[in-house]
Order: sequence, then C-alpha cells, then structure tokens
Amino acid sequence: MDVPHVSVLLQPILDHLHTATRLIDGTLGAGGHTYALLQAGVGHVLGLDLDTQAIQIAQHHLHLFSERVTIQHGSYVDMKQYAAVLGWDQVDGILLDLGVSSMQLDTPERGFAFMKPGPLDMRFDQNAMQASAADIVNTWTEDELTDIFFRYGEERFSRQIARAIIRNRPFETTTQLATLIEKSVPRHKKGNHPATRVFQALRIAVNDELAHIERTLPDAIDLLRPGGRLAVISFHSLEDRIVKHIFKAASTEIVSPPGMMLQEKRATIKLLTRKPIVADEQEIRLNPRSRSAKLRIVEKL
Ligand SMILES: C[S@@+](CC[C@H](N)C(=O)[O-])C[C@H]1O[C@@H](n2cnc3c(N)ncnc32)[C@H](O)[C@@H]1O
Repeated sequence: MDVPHVSVLLQPILDHLHTATRLIDGTLGAGGHTYALLQAGVGHVLGLDLDTQAIQIAQHHLHLFSERVTIQHGSYVDMKQYAAVLGWDQVDGILLDLGVSSMQLDTPERGFAFMKPGPLDMRFDQNAMQASAADIVNTWTEDELTDIFFRYGEERFSRQIARAIIRNRPFETTTQLATLIEKSVPRHKKGNHPATRVFQALRIAVNDELAHIERTLPDAIDLLRPGGRLAVISFHSLEDRIVKHIFKAASTEIVSPPGMMLQEKRATIKLLTRKPIVADEQEIRLNPRSRSAKLRIVEKL
C-alpha cells in the first residue's frame, strides 16, 4: 500500500528505540514509524492519534502486525491513562512526531493549507467540540488575533494582519484568508508565502499544541522505566524550545555543597542528544518536509 506520509528521521528513531518491548507512539499518523519499529523487533506498540482519518489509514497499514499493535483514537496528553488500560505502568520507549502530517496538509477539506480552497477548520480531531480556525478568525478581537499571530507565528506584521482581518471578515475558506494576508503585508521576493506564519499560528491555537506538549513531556518521562527512551521530533522553534527546556530541567542535578542550604534536585533523565539530530542532505532531497525536523532523545535514569 502507498503511504501518504513519509516518516522523517526514521533511521535514528530505529537506532534508539528498536529494542523496546513496550512503546507508545503518541502521534501515530499513517503509522510509518510504528511499522518500521515493529518490523525492527519492538514488542508491542500503543499508537495514539486525534485524527480519525489517520487512525483508519494506520489500521490498514499496520494490519500485518495486528497482534502487536493497539490503535487508539485519543490525545498523547492522556497517554498515561491509555497505557494503564493495557496494564502498562511503565514503558521502554515513547515517540512524539509533532505537528501536522502530509496527508492532513494535502487534504484541502481539513483546512491546514492554503494552496487549494478548503474550509478554515484545522482541528486535528474532526469530532471534537472545539473552536475551528474560522471561529477564531471570525470572532476573536484584534488584540487576541495579534497576540496569537505574534506568539505562535512569530509574525512581524501581526497587528497589521489582525486589523485587515477584522475589516474584511467573515472568512470561509483558506484561500480567501491567504489572499487577504498577501495583500496586507509588504511584498517579499523570496521565501515562504506571507500566510505561512499566520496559518501555523492558527493551527497551534486551534489545537492548543504548545500547552499539550508542555503537559505531556513530564508525564512521558514519568512513564519510562529506567533505561527507557523518549524521542521527540519537532518542526519549528517554538516546539523545539519547549522540548529543550523541559529536557534540560529534568536532566539537571542540583547538589548542595556542605554548609549551603540549596534545594537539592535529582536528575531523572540523561540527554542522548546534546544537539538535536537533523535530516541529512539525502533525506531532505527525498522528503523536503524533513528540512525543519529536529529530533531530541533522552534516557530515563
Ligand atoms: C507528523 S504526523 C505523524 C506521522 C507518523 N509518525 C508517521 O510516521 O506516519 C503527526 C500526527 O500527530 C497527530 N497529533 C497531533 N496532536 C496530537 C495529540 N495531541 N495527540 C495525538 N495525536 C496528535 C496528528 O493528527 C498527526 O497525525
């Protein structure tokens, strides 16, 4: 079967996680990483995804391994509860391949991309009762829009774009919004389309992505048995910064010198990657999406 998403940094993921007996893939997607991990000898995988279409594709893709994989529609935020259902209080490996998949980007009806018209949706979970990108764009105040474009898109022209949106709303489709953004910022000769950052910001806001990563990493570290590994692939600096800070804090040990009353702290993990692993030229050539991927891996002490 053709898989509509090419898994990034597959080899380093296999190198670091192939010996796991129990592994959680918190972002199953089409199941590409999980397929390769099961093929490499991982005992059993619990695969989670919020996207019901991804779940269906993964079920089909992974049917050969049906006895060694448990596929669950749900968020990685709740991985501890889903692991407990399997009777797992500890696991050997956890993988988070954050963000959006190629199949989500390539399906205009999901509203993640703006090259073809689609509804302004952007929810990972199509069944969730949560605000869509259209709800945000059409109802939030200028200050609220400016804030998310700046914080989640690092967009220089946040205020200008927010103002133009308020003046021209309502918006129904991705392309209507992208065209307005293109008209409201100064022209750039090269680089990304001017709507790229705003679309990233809206997706992060719709799915509350950064808060979910912050909440999940401590739980994931907690769930690992000694020697177990957590691997996180991020695709932009906002995500990578959170991963880096949480890993640094958990790997730092504070020992009070005699006579000083410093609050002591034990490290719970060690960093296996001081600098993130990135895709090599060959991978970038074959899969341009891998260009911005950064992989950080830690091991439980
Ligand atoms: C980059 S793709 C994963 C691709 C997968 N590793 C593969 O090789 O096919 C990211 C996936 O994470 C899912 N996702 C995003 N946020 C999630 C969350 N909080 N819980 C579970 N899945 C989530 C998305 O729906 C998407 O399918």
